[in-house]
Amino acid sequence: MSHTVKFTDRDEVIEANDGQTILQALLDSGIEWMHACGGFCNCTTCRVKIEDGMDNVSDMHEDEKNTLRRFQGDEVLEGPFRLSCQVTVHGDIKISEPDWY
Ligand code: FES
Repeated sequence: MSHTVKFTDRDEVIEANDGQTILQALLDSGIEWMHACGGFCNCTTCRVKIEDGMDNVSDMHEDEKNTLRRFQGDEVLEGPFRLSCQVTVHGDIKISEPDWY
């Protein structure tokens, strides 16, 4: 089963296999997406903003929380930002590329 991942900030739509990380779906689709630590949850360069469909992605596990908190502060956990190398897709979603660092 595959799901649709639609960008809200550019004219692109890709497919993600059920349970695939957003990062892997992006890379498989030929989209360049920064992932400095290689997808090991040790940076935050792969971050993605979930614009719609937060219920269709995996819950945030402790490692992802700790990495986001370490680099971006506690408040980032309140928002729609996730690490694309950690979050998996289980339904249609809409995303955009965050412009914060
Ligand atoms: S690639 Fe480094 S945290 Fe995702």
